[in-house]
Amino acid sequence: MNILILGSGGREHAFALKLSQSSQLKTLFVAPGNAGTAEIAQNIAIDPTDFQAVKNCVLTNEIEMIIVGPEAPLVGGIHDFILSDAQLKHIPVIGPKKDGARLEGSKDFSKQFMEKHEIPTARYQSFTNETLNEGKRFLETLKAPYVLKADGLAAGKGVLILDSLQEAKQELEEMLTNKKFGDASSTVVIEEFLDGIELSVFVLTDGKSYKILPSAKDYKRIGEGDKGLNTGGMGAISPVPFADDSFLQKVEDRVVKPTINGLQKDGIDYRGFIFIGLMNVNGNPLVIEYNVRMGDPETEVVIPRIDSDLLELFRGVAQQNLHEKLVKINPETATTVMMVSAGYPEAYQKGKEILGIGRVDNSTVYHAGTKTIDNKILTNGGRVLAITSLGNTIEEALATSYSSISKIHFDGMNYRKDIGFDLV
Ligand code: AMP
Ligand code: GLY
Repeated sequence: MNILILGSGGREHAFALKLSQSSQLKTLFVAPGNAGTAEIAQNIAIDPTDFQAVKNCVLTNEIEMIIVGPEAPLVGGIHDFILSDAQLKHIPVIGPKKDGARLEGSKDFSKQFMEKHEIPTARYQSFTNETLNEGKRFLETLKAPYVLKADGLAAGKGVLILDSLQEAKQELEEMLTNKKFGDASSTVVIEEFLDGIELSVFVLTDGKSYKILPSAKDYKRIGEGDKGLNTGGMGAISPVPFADDSFLQKVEDRVVKPTINGLQKDGIDYRGFIFIGLMNVNGNPLVIEYNVRMGDPETEVVIPRIDSDLLELFRGVAQQNLHEKLVKINPETATTVMMVSAGYPEAYQKGKEILGIGRVDNSTVYHAGTKTIDNKILTNGGRVLAITSLGNTIEEALATSYSSISKIHFDGMNYRKDIGFDLV
């Protein structure tokens, strides 16, 4: 099979490496990809949200399946675009259509969905500029801290958690009236703050049945001890020790099943990944958010623990016989540590030469933001490399990741030395 993966991060490199091990793969393409995917696939320099360019790429390269990594093309309707084109409509897309992608593209929609299908989540209400004053009054009924969420996609920055009521009211006005996040904040969800430990559960579905993939926890803040600015993710661990069988059973019964059934009841034919962000509140899972794709860097610890052929699972999604497939999970622990550029998550440097990747032997180096120029691998993003290791324990896997990092160098490199600190 000829396969096209859309995206350019560590997540896409992890998909690419796993798919490259499938006996069913003929040629693998990644668009636009990075220096890591270039080693195992053919990179195509196109923007995944340029659907016409994607079409040309699919026809030229006789692509037989499209795997969509990031949310933007999904929310923008790439799956619908493929289905509506006579030359492309037979080509399966792994990733939901626009209707399903609203679970991530609109926080208001996802809260309504959870409410309708009785999926546990924080109490909430949504407001627009016309209902600003009601929004301020709703804030008065809640206890600090206050959680404000821009309805639409805001590059991961649309959630504000504020300690004072005064500040929360001001920010609400900033979002609704002064369009702090542009159109993304023309509706704002205000919700109750959930106090607990976060984790994520990943589901692959063909719209009828589902497979639950390994759980993971990511470390979003730039600084050690979970301090400082939010990032895309600085590291991840899978499995999550406190997500034991009894907790995961609650997740399946209270969240996964009603989500899959809810999609069916609402006539949403969903084929792809569902990333469920959860808060464990006193042993009970509450949904913080849905994403309609895999997480990054969570993919870099989830995929290495799947022993089954990923392409076979994707074929199950495409042919709607996923229930016939077996997902074999490696019981070992996987850890990944992100190496990032100086300055990240604010303005960061690019174009620094990366040395030493070839000296790493016990970890997998997933490229996140890299490119090759004149046979040199250069940094090309805020998040540069994800260093994944397997071990019998979190400590063992982390020790391997950190030892591998010590062999790699680029100017200004930074990474968190405390990934997993709250779990060990
Ligand atoms: P989101 O973009 O929805 O993932 O939100 C970003 C982060 O804000 C989450 O990963 C949580 O750490 C935090 N968060 C979101 N909603 C809540 C909530 N209701 N209570 C506590 N923390 C939250
Ligand atoms: N690591 C969080 C995300 O992919 O959204």
